[in-house]
Amino acid sequence: MTMYRKRKFLTGLAFIISFGVLVNLSVYAEPLKKVIQLEPAVKVDQIKEDNIVLPKPRLKSNLSIEEAIARRRSRRLYKKEPITLKELSQILWAAQGITGQVGGFKLRTAPSAGALYPIELYVLLPKGVYHYLPEEHKLEKIKGGDLRSDLAEAALGQQWIREASCNIIITAVYERTMAKYGKRGIKYAILEAGHVSENIYLQAESLGLGTVNIGAFGDVQVQKVLGIPKDNRPLYIMPLGYPLHR
Ligand SMILES: Cc1cc2nc3c(=O)[nH]c(=O)nc-3n(C[C@H](O)[C@H](O)[C@H](O)COP(=O)(O)O)c2cc1C
Repeated sequence: MTMYRKRKFLTGLAFIISFGVLVNLSVYAEPLKKVIQLEPAVKVDQIKEDNIVLPKPRLKSNLSIEEAIARRRSRRLYKKEPITLKELSQILWAAQGITGQVGGFKLRTAPSAGALYPIELYVLLPKGVYHYLPEEHKLEKIKGGDLRSDLAEAALGQQWIREASCNIIITAVYERTMAKYGKRGIKYAILEAGHVSENIYLQAESLGLGTVNIGAFGDVQVQKVLGIPKDNRPLYIMPLGYPLHR
């Protein structure tokens, strides 16, 4: 190798190494979000962490499915006492938790056209807005602050939203289902929100919690309050709390 070629080779090598170091540094420069495991009994008004692993759901209860169906009612008045992380975790699992696998595809508690799962769940807690990640059974914070009053305003001032321990917002990304079913995918995604909502109702009944599925709100207003992407169309708001009356 001539001196010239040798120098060219070494310059190239130095360039590749420094590029690699820079890429690596930029990856590590991103602050690593710590995933926190909280006590299952912690009340939801105390939760402020960015990344929370939810407690494992239980598969047994003292209430039969028939009793839960018979007792299901829309409950809008709640006690002041906040619900626990364990109860919230159970509700989220009932709504969209992973319950099976076919090949590489994970299947969830509620049915989905073509197993395309257009539903995304958000949780409005007293200290922020969280996104539910079914595969990891985890909550990830997307916005801080107590936005319950703002969300109630976006829903014609329905005060049960403000007075609940927390609210679950069922949204759908229509495009996910439309990729296979065209326009009909919109209908499928909306139907799926109904399945998810009923699971929440029945699980709430089984846990002694109260909820109601709220459909009266401004879609864009809700998106703005939560700070969620435009393609996540809000379909239901479901407040949760210990019911004042049974
Ligand atoms: C599509 C839909 C939208 C609804 N929107 C609201 C709402 O905005 N606010 C509310 O308080 N209840 C709402 N509800 C709950 C109904 O008022 C309730 O289901 C009905 O009164 C029957 O009572 P039950 O659920 O206790 O059987 C809605 C229900 C459905 C199915």
